[in-house]
Amino acid sequence: MINVAIEAAREAGRFLKYSVGKVRTIEMKEGEERNLVSEIDRGSEEKIISLIRRRYPTHGILAEESGGSNPGAEYKWIIDPLDGTTNFLHGLPVFCVTIGIEHRGEIIAGVVYDPNQDDLYTAEKGSGAFVNGRRLKVSTTGKLINSLLMTGFPYDVAQNPEHAVEHFVNFLMEARGIRRFGSAALDLCHVAAGRLDGFWEVNLHPWDMAAGILLVTEAGGKVSDFDGAPLSIYGKKVVASNGVIHDAMVSVLGKHRRGGAGGIKTS
Ligand code: IPD
Ligand code: CA
Ligand code: CA
Repeated sequence: MINVAIEAAREAGRFLKYSVGKVRTIEMKEGEERNLVSEIDRGSEEKIISLIRRRYPTHGILAEESGGSNPGAEYKWIIDPLDGTTNFLHGLPVFCVTIGIEHRGEIIAGVVYDPNQDDLYTAEKGSGAFVNGRRLKVSTTGKLINSLLMTGFPYDVAQNPEHAVEHFVNFLMEARGIRRFGSAALDLCHVAAGRLDGFWEVNLHPWDMAAGILLVTEAGGKVSDFDGAPLSIYGKKVVASNGVIHDAMVSVLGKHRRGGAGGIKTS
């Protein structure tokens, strides 16, 4: 199955790269001002799904643009055909294709393809995480103040969902640096590769994180919800780290309950 995921991710990724600057129609999703979609997101998804369907017609699919099919199937393919749509539409080369494979509720394989770097990230449960065949390992950074962290903001950030703004301010006060690249799946790959020490985000969807969280855990890292409890990809809140700084990150994510956002008024 992972070979089918790789073939689909590569084909879709090549299509995305070729399509930069050639978008004809940009629409807003669900009347939201920031959440954009184009015919390229849909075209990429169609390519991926048709390849999977040809090989595994009875498997379930959960894909960002077309939704779900075959509910109750033993295997479910979880697909984001273009993670980093805003970057893509602006011509910023930070986007990817990401495909996770779930078996009876457990993610067993994940593929992320970055067509701009021609980097293929792969992981299978119990077999490690790799980029272009080279094994990945998380960083060993032990303190938040020495950590480079990544986050993202949901499209409804103006409503400050789940204290997103307070979390950002609190990490800003405690870490070496914070980055926001705009592709959650690639962000998780950077944690798996040890280039980043941790990542958190609110309001993510299963397709943003299914493959990436397996890459992080197979590279020796840890993932959880904001309370440190086991992560569900359907749970919207994710913290992923090298494992060493995980408790410190969970503690920062609870800080808003213990006394606000670093003394800065955010509401
Ligand atoms: C988005 C990206 C972004 C994250 C958003 C996601 P999309 O996915 O992963 O980094 O901050 O929350 O929705 O819309 O480009 O597929
Ligand atoms: Ca996404
Ligand atoms: Ca997407």
